[in-house]
Amino acid sequence: MINIKENISLKPYHTFGMDINTRYLVEYDSVEELRSLLISPIIKDNIYIHIGGGSNLLFTKEYCGVVLHSRIVDMVVEEHEDSVLIKVGAGVVWDDFVAYTVSNNWYGAENLSYIPGEVGASAVQNVGAYGVEAKDIINRVYAIDVETGAERIFKQDECLYGYRSSIFKTQLKGQYIITYVEYRLSKTPCHKLEYGNLKTMLGDDITLQNIRNSIIEIRKQKLPDPNELGSAGSFFINPVVDVTCFHTLKQEYPDIVSYPLNEDKVKLSAAWLIDKAGWHGKRVGGAAVYHKQCLVLINENNAIPADVIELASQIQKSVYEKYGVEITPEVNYI
Ligand code: EPU
Repeated sequence: MINIKENISLKPYHTFGMDINTRYLVEYDSVEELRSLLISPIIKDNIYIHIGGGSNLLFTKEYCGVVLHSRIVDMVVEEHEDSVLIKVGAGVVWDDFVAYTVSNNWYGAENLSYIPGEVGASAVQNVGAYGVEAKDIINRVYAIDVETGAERIFKQDECLYGYRSSIFKTQLKGQYIITYVEYRLSKTPCHKLEYGNLKTMLGDDITLQNIRNSIIEIRKQKLPDPNELGSAGSFFINPVVDVTCFHTLKQEYPDIVSYPLNEDKVKLSAAWLIDKAGWHGKRVGGAAVYHKQCLVLINENNAIPADVIELASQIQKSVYEKYGVEITPEVNYI
């Protein structure tokens, strides 16, 4: 059923937890309903934005159009000898999907446990954690062309996945709405445990459920629970710099945290840059740098969007002045 609400607060629809209104909130349950909405006056006569779990958004002011949200939540499983294909509705909560794969002993999604958000957005954003990215398990992405209503099925390599990036954020931004994502999971063990202290935490007890539990534990230690403290996870993307720039920085800051990407490029830890620039726990108005992970900006005390915007821009400026490195927000400003 199509559900239209007028002049309501977006507080339950985004993880920053700010009380900001939208003119309309429209939810739909099926591809047919989405198609009928796309040709209806409410969408034709207004600006609109499609959201997922709202875990990567900063509403900067009242939204004067339509906030669209998918409630397509069915799943279809196709079993093969060594693998399984699951076609999952865009509105399924990401971690419910991960929990489902783990409970069925299917490998591939476990490192992505406890990431907030929904399935549709994971394919736009290429969410990642602990050495795995959504692109590693995505097989195909089903989407609707917003102009024609026609379905297009993108093979994984057509999605042009990169670090927190895809064709849906770049060349085709705003042109398609994702309805389903098809994942391929393995029936035989294929763990990725190289990141951080994951192996040490697990010891000899390497089962899917234990990997999931350990990751949930690590995330709970480092990242705020959106039900208790508003945030949008990592606020900035880790910057990528040239090797020469990295060597210059390394001479001045020998303990700089980095990950080599290829022969020419190095990814720097934005959390480290921010931390060492003195931002740990700093505040602007009701917004603050999270004391357990400097990459996360939190709504500590009834923050308004301007507090978060000001804090973020002061951090960007200071990181640039200290290291000559630009950090850009991962969070979308709306
Ligand atoms: N560090 C600091 N100060 C801090 C926090 C971290 O110096 O306050 C240093 C530490 O040395 C640490 C390193 O930074 O070892 C990296 O920290 P972490 O392992 O937390 O990873 P990250 O690069 O900061 C990325 C993702 C997270 C994901 C983790 C784990 C991005 C933008 N963020 O963070 O994703 O959970 O790796 O894989 O790539 C998200 O996107 O919302 C998110 C939480």
